[in-house]
Amino acid sequence: MTIKKRLLLSNIGMIIIPILGFLVIEIALGYILFFLLRGNIEDELQLFMTLRLIGMLLVIIITNGLLTYFVSKSIIHPIKKLMNAAEEISNGNLNYQLDVTNKRDELDQLAETFESMRKKLLQAKKLQETYEENQKELIASISHDLKTPITSIRGYVKGIQDGVANTPDKLHRYMETIDRKALGMNQLIEELFLYSKLDLESVPFEMEEVDLNAYMEDYIEELQFELEQEGCTVFYEKEQGKSYIVEADREKVKRVVDNIIQNSLRYLNKDIKKIEIYLKAKADNVTVEIKDNGMGIPEESIASIFDRFYRIDASRSLTTGGSGLGLAIVKKIIQGHGGTVWASSKFGEGTSIFFTLPTPYQRRGTNGENPNHRR
Ligand SMILES: Nc1ncnc2c1ncn2[C@@H]1O[C@H](COP(=O)(O)OP(=O)(O)OP(=O)(O)O)[C@@H](O)[C@H]1O
Ligand SMILES: [Mg+2]
Repeated sequence: MTIKKRLLLSNIGMIIIPILGFLVIEIALGYILFFLLRGNIEDELQLFMTLRLIGMLLVIIITNGLLTYFVSKSIIHPIKKLMNAAEEISNGNLNYQLDVTNKRDELDQLAETFESMRKKLLQAKKLQETYEENQKELIASISHDLKTPITSIRGYVKGIQDGVANTPDKLHRYMETIDRKALGMNQLIEELFLYSKLDLESVPFEMEEVDLNAYMEDYIEELQFELEQEGCTVFYEKEQGKSYIVEADREKVKRVVDNIIQNSLRYLNKDIKKIEIYLKAKADNVTVEIKDNGMGIPEESIASIFDRFYRIDASRSLTTGGSGLGLAIVKKIIQGHGGTVWASSKFGEGTSIFFTLPTPYQRRGTNGENPNHRR
């Protein structure tokens, strides 16, 4: 019952109950004094008037007292509970749960809103904690990945200073290693920079209509030389008679395909190396599949490979070591296009990475809304 209704009923009660009370008192007193006792009429009339007055006063006091007590209790009790909960929350205890009764009055609704506010605050706090945890992990990973090559560069420089590289051949090898390590660091910093810009959504996306079929054919032609050197063959297939026009940022899609293909080459451990590329067109998107016959990914790791700094070889001890940012960048870029990216793999047999890019039809359907596009 709403508070308004409760107050109204109590007011009505404060009028009706005394009236009924007066009637009962009058009848009862009249019956006792004038019918049962039947004494001196004047004395009894006097007594009747006095007792009636006392009775009426008592009825008014009791009715008012009881009604005021119950109505105010039904309002003050939940307010006190709310006050307690607000105090707990202001002291940082977001787990303090307020039990909502089912009276369905205004205070109950207020308690419900309060509870949903507490849940949202708790959620925001948890998100903030995860974010802070991520930041810590990020800093630890960056420090680790930068410290390793720096330590090694300093070691080689010290070797040169101490005269360990005492032949021109040794010196050349030392210098080459230093150069390679510095290059690796440069690449890592460049990847980190790009990743953080994508994360902050501060990279503009230059969207245009791109024929993905022609784009992939050119790309494969350009890549042919590098692939031949690696002893890798490429097979490319698309369905005939379909349109592969997508809305995309050419440069960024190149980065996506580069990162995926570089992974395929890096993790190819077979004598006969194969990369297969398939295009599939639907009304609202085109799916690209890049498949290799490399070492594959264990099932439990597939879901994590798009996480930043995630590497299956967590120790980063393999000579094939990267920073684990390649696929995180791929994911950010594809999401920036409004597409999706996923992987399927059989450990020991090979891996397929899939990504979709939206067709102009899909982008029109969503008003072409892409925050990156406008920036
Ligand atoms: N084609 C693939 N075959 C097997 N494993 C793969 C393949 N692609 C990715 N992986 C696994 O997923 C991990 C993450 O890949 P990602 O490209 O993000 O990082 P990376 O290659 O280690 O480093 P980076 O690309 O930043 O130089 C890799 O370390 C590797 O273990
Ligand atoms: Mg990679």
